[in-house]
Amino acid sequence: MNADRTNTEWWRTSVVYQVYIRSFADSDGDGLGDIQGLRSKLPYLSALGVDALWINPWYPSPQADAGYDVADFRDIEPAYGTLAQAEALIREVHEAGMRVLLDIVPNHTSSTHRWFRAALAGDAEARARYVFRPGRGTGGQLPPNNWQSNFGGPAWTRTPADGDPAGNPVGDAAGGPASGEWYLHLFAPGQPDLDWSNPQVVAEFEDILRFWFDRGVDGFRIDVAHGLVKAGGLPDAPDPQPGSNHTASHPAWDQDGVHEIYRGWRRVADSYDPPRVFVAEAWVASPERLARYLRTDELQTAFQFDLLRAPFRASVMREVVDEAAATADAVGAPSTWVLSNHDVVRPVTRYARTQGEHLLESAWDRQHRDREAADVPLGLARARAAALLTLALPGVAYVYQGEELGLEEVEAIPDEARQDPTFVQSAGTDPGRDGSRVPIPWSGNEPPYGFSPPDAAAVPWLPQPDGWADRTAAAQEDDPASTLALYRVALAARREHLVDAGPVSWVQGTDPAVLAFSRGSVSCWVNTGSTSVPLPAGRVLVSSASGGADGILAGDSAVWLLDDRRVS
Ligand code: NOJ
Repeated sequence: MNADRTNTEWWRTSVVYQVYIRSFADSDGDGLGDIQGLRSKLPYLSALGVDALWINPWYPSPQADAGYDVADFRDIEPAYGTLAQAEALIREVHEAGMRVLLDIVPNHTSSTHRWFRAALAGDAEARARYVFRPGRGTGGQLPPNNWQSNFGGPAWTRTPADGDPAGNPVGDAAGGPASGEWYLHLFAPGQPDLDWSNPQVVAEFEDILRFWFDRGVDGFRIDVAHGLVKAGGLPDAPDPQPGSNHTASHPAWDQDGVHEIYRGWRRVADSYDPPRVFVAEAWVASPERLARYLRTDELQTAFQFDLLRAPFRASVMREVVDEAAATADAVGAPSTWVLSNHDVVRPVTRYARTQGEHLLESAWDRQHRDREAADVPLGLARARAAALLTLALPGVAYVYQGEELGLEEVEAIPDEARQDPTFVQSAGTDPGRDGSRVPIPWSGNEPPYGFSPPDAAAVPWLPQPDGWADRTAAAQEDDPASTLALYRVALAARREHLVDAGPVSWVQGTDPAVLAFSRGSVSCWVNTGSTSVPLPAGRVLVSSASGGADGILAGDSAVWLLDDRRVS
């Protein structure tokens, strides 16, 4: 039993494992992960020692954005399985002592959702659930405002003549010249934005929450939680490219009206026993803005993305920890730490190049084609150290699948194999997010590395690289120096010594390249410099490199020390 399932405050201290289901484990050989594959790996996740799973969207979808274009929020994508299998999975996760969070996508639907189909066919009630506007300029041939899609290109697509029952949003391609209104899509054209000022939209999503809560789901990760409400009148943005940098002020993001929606959701969640929980994906300008989502009648947790934007540099990381903790504390919420997810470059690769002085301006930072070569062993050493930092902090920690195997970003995906709409919409200037989504290597010496069964009919949906034989879970299983072993040991030590250990207390007077703090009887030391530094006395609980026991902390490494005198 991993977690105490009677503890209703579990979400304050949990370690949540992100399952990107498409790339996790393929049971039927179609090259896509699925629910049966995930069920077969529950013993692995239990042994890893995580408390909960967050499963990326698994609903029916044409996959214009890897499932974030949802066609039906109350069913399962056939390629991933069935509703009955999903229910069995939820039961089994609970039996294993873990919890399940799903991913809700309230900012937009798929363009194949029945609502949007009806809207294009001219149904006025359905149209009012989306953001249709007349164009500007003579004949309305210009988009209603200057907003750009997050994936590149305009955030608006013009529809064929209004009310054309054969309505097809791609204009000339099928339905004749596009001469109708435009619809808003902050992401791909296949992801029309909903209009959250419409009470039907509000009611629909509260009902979707109940649908899954009734099936035992413990909570939701909220996609683009900061995007649902747009500024009245949809004014031009000062900087039209909201895109990669959600921290700039923009009329589409982080509008005050969004909070009322979450108050309603909280009431739904609190009507269940035990109460259900949320984690917001909200890219906002500051920790203060983030804390607004965490007020006592809103969401319990929200991803703190600043650590993910931080270089491997003690001064910046320390500032992030201090600021995040202060603002979350002020509203009584835990900090929610995350080093990676399916949208950003994997930490091993982020840390494999020269590190900046400040937070990355853009969380994505994928424009690496012309940059220095990645030093992957160095990146791995730093990623292991950053993992120990993250797991030692108070609050919640998310682990993205493959992080525990030390996977690096796959940067060399051939252009023709890329699937992320970002690549196409940016006209190839942004390689997109596929490099962090490559299917997990489980065993064996060559692709598909146990991701698909040996007799699989199809190859994995994204190509796995050669040379991952030493990254597989099987290869790491019995190797105490492996990253898998590091995560297992760290998660067990966290449970034993850190879960209730209280706030961070910084060790003063350390080398500027060193970040050191204690929590209860454990101190965490991270050396972001390249030269060794001395360590105080203490029993080494976990070490990201082989050292520590000799009183020396090597460069680019971290260690947890136990002060035996302080163990109660
Ligand atoms: C955030 C998700 O994490 C990302 O993968 C997706 O493309 C956008 N939201 C749009 O839903």
